[in-house]
Amino acid sequence: MFDTHCHINFNHYKNDADEVVARARDANVQMIVVGAQYSTSKRAVEVAHLYGEGVWAAVGLHPTHLFDMRYEGDSEDEGYDTRKEEFDYSAYKSLAKDEKTVAIGEMGVDYFHMPEGVDSVDVKLKQRELFIRGINLAQEVGKPLIVHTRPSTREARDAYDDTLSVLYDTGFANCVMHSFSGSKELARAFLNHGCMLSFTGVVTFKNAKDLQEVAKYVPLDRIMLETDAPYLTPDPYRGQRNEPAHVRYVANKIAELKGISTEEVIKITDKNAKAFFNLR
Ligand code: NI
Repeated sequence: MFDTHCHINFNHYKNDADEVVARARDANVQMIVVGAQYSTSKRAVEVAHLYGEGVWAAVGLHPTHLFDMRYEGDSEDEGYDTRKEEFDYSAYKSLAKDEKTVAIGEMGVDYFHMPEGVDSVDVKLKQRELFIRGINLAQEVGKPLIVHTRPSTREARDAYDDTLSVLYDTGFANCVMHSFSGSKELARAFLNHGCMLSFTGVVTFKNAKDLQEVAKYVPLDRIMLETDAPYLTPDPYRGQRNEPAHVRYVANKIAELKGISTEEVIKITDKNAKAFFNLR
């Protein structure tokens, strides 16, 4: 089983990453460790080399790291302060070319976490430029892109619409919409464009009926599983730090929603992840 998006490269695991990886291996879970800025991207590549088999990296600059700001996080996340980073294309390119790097990301647009004192039009323009640089890098190194998209509110579709517009303009489709939480209509648009969609523990939440309908709708051969650990911990561990071994709860929920066995979900989503990330 694949956790296609986790952050065991983050400080949350600085004391027990070995045990976290050991628990994932006991649970037969392989993982992609995703960077959000240069330091964590470099660390993702190091972690992938350190643990070797079944652990790969993705490198990129998350849109919330474009500005100095206080990242408040979700109700169950811890907040943190972020320093602004310029996207150094050649520095990311050398990480991107590493044999353990299987994707670029996470990159995209985030209108939920906006810096104060900067015109939102400028912020959106800068995020769009950065997103396109990420697409360019993915194209240059021939690896897929993990896309982060977060609208300004739970109901808004602003960030999804702008993501679609960038994908249409560039003609780029070798990407996965990470932690997809848009509507069925939006899911259809991304699927029609050729993107994969991935689901996190959010799909297990009792109050996530709409997202559960979306997961039911998306064909299994277009779905990947992820935890986004340390965030978005599935039921029954909601509120605690997440980890890759918990991806099983996402698989269980998708199976329940689709009325098929967990084994079937694992079989197909494994196949999807291997093909998408070109894993041997
Ligand atoms: Ni993430």
